[in-house]
Amino acid sequence: MMLMPKLFPFYLCFLRAHSIINENGKVKAVKFDKFTQENKFSLAGVQMKFSMKEKDGRYNLSKGNVLGDWIIKAPSTKHKFVPLNEYTAMSLAGLVGVDIPEIKLVELDKLDNLPQINLPDEKQAFAIKRFERADDQRIHMEDFAQILVKHPHEKYRSANYENIGKVIYDFSGDGLADAQQFARRLLVNIFLANGDTHLKNWSLLYPDQITPRLSPAYNIVTTSVYIENETQYALNLGKTKEWYSVTMAHFQSWAEKSGIPWRAIKPHLDDTLNKARGLWPDALNKLPMNDDHKEGLRNHWNKLQNDFKIETLN
Ligand SMILES: Nc1ncnc2c1ncn2[C@@H]1O[C@H](COP(=O)(O)OP(=O)(O)OP(=O)(O)O)[C@@H](O)[C@H]1O
Ligand SMILES: [Mg+2]
Repeated sequence: MMLMPKLFPFYLCFLRAHSIINENGKVKAVKFDKFTQENKFSLAGVQMKFSMKEKDGRYNLSKGNVLGDWIIKAPSTKHKFVPLNEYTAMSLAGLVGVDIPEIKLVELDKLDNLPQINLPDEKQAFAIKRFERADDQRIHMEDFAQILVKHPHEKYRSANYENIGKVIYDFSGDGLADAQQFARRLLVNIFLANGDTHLKNWSLLYPDQITPRLSPAYNIVTTSVYIENETQYALNLGKTKEWYSVTMAHFQSWAEKSGIPWRAIKPHLDDTLNKARGLWPDALNKLPMNDDHKEGLRNHWNKLQNDFKIETLN
């Protein structure tokens, strides 16, 4: 973990509390909480992911030394039209200034050499360009469960967006720009009713192999259309997780607790909000999300606090 030497003194307290190495240096058993929300919306097992190499519009499962340049996420046997949902949510995010990789919907018959898997009666998979690849080389990347030294099953707990914001601001090669981008994404994920923004859905990338930067965004999905009565995002922001209570004041508290100047964040949130209000109602009509899911998203916009409400004519 490349960030560890720099972070070690700062995160010593977390390490002591959660390390599987006890104070005598012996390995101890770690209790796994039966009621962890690890599988809240995890599509593991129901939505297969493949690393594939693209050539002339066809995608081949990457094997041996060949590095895949796309992640292909097949449709889910449990939840309907997840590829269309993820494509739409990521596209909406891109429209309001979120840095997203190249994405596509790919016809399933363009995927070669897939293993025998159960697929629902849907035609398209979601494809996202791998951003930790350049010229067939790997670029180092760490997610925030790794950075904050958490077990994967702790990804919905044990940290908050202030912890992530502080690491980004203090350690990124461009702390201010990345903190501004992080704030924008936090707001966008609230707007898009993505309840799955846990620690492993945020990463730092080392484009020059030395300096950490916030990675492009990935795995933005309107999860609320699959989870009945979902009202929360994944981690605390200004002490709340509630989509329908969160306001600008929580973001101000988040910035202050993260040690990021609020005056440098507020204009980015205002810009995100203005763009979402101006662009999304029309864009959503045109994007390929399932119609019931679109309706669910519009209802969500209508339930947000006045600070954040997005009006639609439909
Ligand atoms: N475009 C990308 N480039 C590089 N790595 C990526 C990209 N998209 C996703 N990843 C990595 O692959 C992992 C799994 O992808 P993703 O989060 O989209 O899948 P998921 O199964 O929906 O995740 P979850 O476990 O959050 O339900 C991510 O946590 C991230 O580490
Ligand atoms: Mg994920």
